[in-house]
Amino acid sequence: MTAVGSLDRSFASPNHAAETSGPLYVPRVQPLDRTLGPFSVFARLLKNPLRILPAAAYEEGIVWAARAGRMVCWITDPALIKTVLLDKRDVFERTSVTQRLLGPLLGNGVLTADGADWKWQRQTAAPVFRHHDLLSFVPLIAEAAERLLSAWRRGEDGATRNIDPDMTLVTFDVISHTLLPGGESHVGPLIGGANIDFQKPLGWQMAYANFRIPAWMPHPGWLKMHQARRELRAAVASLVAERRAKPTGKDDLLQRLANAKNPETGAHMPEELLIDNLLTFFMAGHETTAKALTWTLYLLARAPHWGERIAEEVRQVAGDGPLQPEHIDKLVITTQVLKESMRLYPPAPMMSRQARVDGELAGVPIKAGTQIIIPIYAIQRHRRYWTNPDHFEPGRFAPELEAQIPRYHYMPFGAGPRICIGMAFALIEGIAILASLVRAARFTVAPGSEPEPISRVTLRPAGGMPLAVHWR
Ligand code: HEM
Repeated sequence: MTAVGSLDRSFASPNHAAETSGPLYVPRVQPLDRTLGPFSVFARLLKNPLRILPAAAYEEGIVWAARAGRMVCWITDPALIKTVLLDKRDVFERTSVTQRLLGPLLGNGVLTADGADWKWQRQTAAPVFRHHDLLSFVPLIAEAAERLLSAWRRGEDGATRNIDPDMTLVTFDVISHTLLPGGESHVGPLIGGANIDFQKPLGWQMAYANFRIPAWMPHPGWLKMHQARRELRAAVASLVAERRAKPTGKDDLLQRLANAKNPETGAHMPEELLIDNLLTFFMAGHETTAKALTWTLYLLARAPHWGERIAEEVRQVAGDGPLQPEHIDKLVITTQVLKESMRLYPPAPMMSRQARVDGELAGVPIKAGTQIIIPIYAIQRHRRYWTNPDHFEPGRFAPELEAQIPRYHYMPFGAGPRICIGMAFALIEGIAILASLVRAARFTVAPGSEPEPISRVTLRPAGGMPLAVHWR
């Protein structure tokens, strides 16, 4: 937990009474309200890239800045976002910054590739993500939640746990018992170990990439990061080798990627690319959902009446038995809470694109290489788009009101053809885990604690998320 002072108190209600009576107020990270020199920008990038989000990004539609000899702009205007992500998607490609951050681990897989390379990989994986088929995973997801609850039950009632790694473990448990079976024995032992070492230096990577410092330049955590990369890739390679030696005959994600042929060359995916993609799905497929759950449990600890409503709803819909596929759509309150939590704490807080060629944006001429940042965090707390933007009000997502939210005002899963492929999976999983945990337990947090959300590709709570777990 970090100092409250690093968050924006300017919109604070006069006291903390909101925690029990009115809607809960959760301050945004302090926006940047002045021009900083390069050293200060570097330091902020290192600490938390959300701290260089200009105040105007929460109020205007576009903000320009120059950095390391290149233009950067933040866009929050819906029409501009549509231009970049949809209408002119061939002009605005994945950024060199994204490549610098994710490329070392994820290579040229579906998340990091562009153009034709991206398209066939996306088309290969897409059929695995059909909503109806994903619903059949609900009992397996509920079992993973039960395994976590059993671990919690071995501790004392009311014991404080760091919920953040617990959510990572449960969502990894889910991905490796559903889309990527076998992951628990091969990759599982490294999650929470090697993965953490890979995440820690992301601040340096981010700062280096923005200031165009060469990738070979070492920084704290550099060696460990590369060791983590080698270990993770070796673990995935051994999973692939095992499946090749003992095929299961199942049409799962691994099999589908291994069988796929590039339409241009007719060749199978080279082994390296297969590993890139499997690692992409292992990592993208659990880390973001874990963060969504961590922040949701935090919000429920601060606004316990919403936890009561969820528990009541789950009992009405599913009784005390395991959750089933048909229950998901009926968990309306649970869904609203999860969606509102992803508004205030978007698990992927920023997206970015880069102009491939010279052109224009919002009538301003831009050079090839201009960085376009789409700050989901600021869009979803934008002063003009939301009433009470920093208040936790799940009722905004009541079905009739949700339908009125403009497309580019709420976009935790991105938008356009590169919208998150795992969106339906993440929602089903998030709802099922949340429902299972909240039916069994209540959560409390030290009064007045305000964890700072830090952007490290995903949105992490600085210092973890200690919550006390009480049985219902
Ligand atoms: C709450 C959970 C999740 C959130 C908030 C989230 C968010 C996002 C966002 C914002 C993007 C777009 C990035 C961009 O366009 O620059 C994205 C892409 C992606 N996500 Fe997710 N994601 C979640 C869960 C998942 C899951 C469960 C999987 C896989 C099982 C997954 C796999 C991917 C992949 C492969 C891409 C790249 C898609 C492409 O470029 O075609 N995500 N995600």
